Amino acid sequence: MEEAFMKRTANCGELRAKDEGKEVILNGWVHRDRNHGALHFINLRDRYGMTQVVVDDDADAELVKRASELKLEYCIAVKGKVRKRPESMVNKEMPTGEIEVKAEKIEILSPSDTLPFMIEDETNAKEDLRLKYRFLDLRSKGMQDRIRLRHEFIKAIRQFFYKTDFYEIETPTLIRSTPEGARDFLVPSRIYPGKFFALPQSPQLYKQLLMVSGFDKYFQIARCYRDEDPRGDRQLEFTQLDLEMSFVTREDILDLMEKLFREVFKKVVNVELPEHFKRLSYHDAMNTYGSDKPDLRFSLEIKDGLPLVDITSFQILKDIKEKNGAVKFLVAPKKEGFDYTRKYLAELEESAKIYGASALYFMKAEDGKLQGGISKFFEGKNDEVLSITGAKTGDVILVIAHENWKKACNSMGAVRSKLGADLNLIKKGFEFCWIIDFPLFEYNEDEGHWEAAHHMFSMPQSEYIETLEEDPGRVKGDLYDLVLNGYEVASGSIRIHDVELQKRIFRICNIPDDMAEERFGFLLNAFRFSPPPHGGIAPGIDRICMIIADQSSIKEVIAYPKNTAAMSPMDESPAEVEQKQLDELSIMIKPKKDEA
Ligand code: AMO
Repeated sequence: MEEAFMKRTANCGELRAKDEGKEVILNGWVHRDRNHGALHFINLRDRYGMTQVVVDDDADAELVKRASELKLEYCIAVKGKVRKRPESMVNKEMPTGEIEVKAEKIEILSPSDTLPFMIEDETNAKEDLRLKYRFLDLRSKGMQDRIRLRHEFIKAIRQFFYKTDFYEIETPTLIRSTPEGARDFLVPSRIYPGKFFALPQSPQLYKQLLMVSGFDKYFQIARCYRDEDPRGDRQLEFTQLDLEMSFVTREDILDLMEKLFREVFKKVVNVELPEHFKRLSYHDAMNTYGSDKPDLRFSLEIKDGLPLVDITSFQILKDIKEKNGAVKFLVAPKKEGFDYTRKYLAELEESAKIYGASALYFMKAEDGKLQGGISKFFEGKNDEVLSITGAKTGDVILVIAHENWKKACNSMGAVRSKLGADLNLIKKGFEFCWIIDFPLFEYNEDEGHWEAAHHMFSMPQSEYIETLEEDPGRVKGDLYDLVLNGYEVASGSIRIHDVELQKRIFRICNIPDDMAEERFGFLLNAFRFSPPPHGGIAPGIDRICMIIADQSSIKEVIAYPKNTAAMSPMDESPAEVEQKQLDELSIMIKPKKDEA
């Protein structure tokens, strides 16, 4: 049978000088198309690279005509002969730059409409336009590289686990609604009108049930769905490496993750990670870096400001101390060519205020003296302040005070992050660290009750178990987060495997026994049948790929993401459905408020 089209014999990235003289057929897209008098140069592109095709001045009339019909992004087939480029024409930037293909025949496989934006390495087209034409955007080198990186990353993860005795097991994506912190996406049941499935926020309960069944090492590349507002490092649907193990302690899980990421980073980006990652307790991370996901690529440290309170006449600081609040200071270092102007200090203050600080106080160190800002409250104490803070000429001492320790820390953490970026302090590379000893509960001010800081299935540390209810705020959990370059990239815990303890946690989180049975009955039921001690973790694949690809949005490493308005400009989802579909589901849409 005759071929329907001229099928490729080589791809656009593989031809080299050694292929000189070969007859080849290339298939690909017209990336660039230039005419130099009678000569016609076409850069033909596919997933593998780019090859220069030349229509020479001796080409026959038909070939010249076909070449003149070409437009950007036409999909074509070229038959021709590989020849070396003259020395002066070698393009060192292109892997195929030593050769070109002298065209003998060109076939247009399919034409293209005028492009909504140019297919560049890195496009500056508006995001919604890129997402509307994502299939074109994905042709760009930047997106092609990042999708390949993601593929390599997931492949390396699977290769790691396939060498171990973990099972890869799929868990359902139509499940019972068991909120884990975010809002669920619901799927109406046609067969049971008025009933709904939910899409999993993560496979959490199902992986725990797998442990009850004795599959003591499980992993999955799992899709998760959360109905929250998307932002830079968040999407409505995203992917986790989800895993769980039985008969383990925290150390086993941390150790496994370190081995995994060492192997994967070596394979994917050829980076040697340390054998063990730094560890910080939640309290130390908050106190020193003002964040439970500190960016350790720069060292700027926050210090306890209470010793300053003892030598100041500044009443605001004294009052905060009196109320058992927190006073924090940070020394913003002198940097050549960088001025701590009033305007800049106001910007720093704005970043602190987002996290609850009412003010960012400052004083400048100059020739052994303090100047400006709150320095007047330290009269006669300049030497002491300089000795406590270690500030040198040109440095600025920044101070935050708040009744609430967490708000004081987070506010100074925001200042630290801004300084790190603005002063260019952030080193290239990957700084992993574990955050451990998290509080198990946090207080929900709006709803007036305690809730789980991670999720409700995490084990309290043993010394707190007996007296959990007395002061839930004090209880530390057997919880751990993995942080990379200032992002939380994984989260996990040792789990509760005891019905009574699980119910106590539910009660503290304002879920009485009957509600717990109704919502989580299947888990509690399983826990009545000899569950093993178990624990696990779930690294976010999108976030880690985003960081490796040096991007600030996970959309850049997801083929078809939703936009910031939580919709997809390409297929225009979410969209209305036909009345017939709604009828089948027994669903009636409430009129919008203004139509009612
Ligand atoms: P958690 O909710 O902390 O834990 O999620 C684990 C990791 O998943 C990633 N992640 C996200 N990535 C993109 N968009 C989102 N909306 C999003 N939400 C979370 C992050 C995060 O660290 N079941 C538990 C894990 C466990 O305890 O084993 C869980 O899902 O990288």
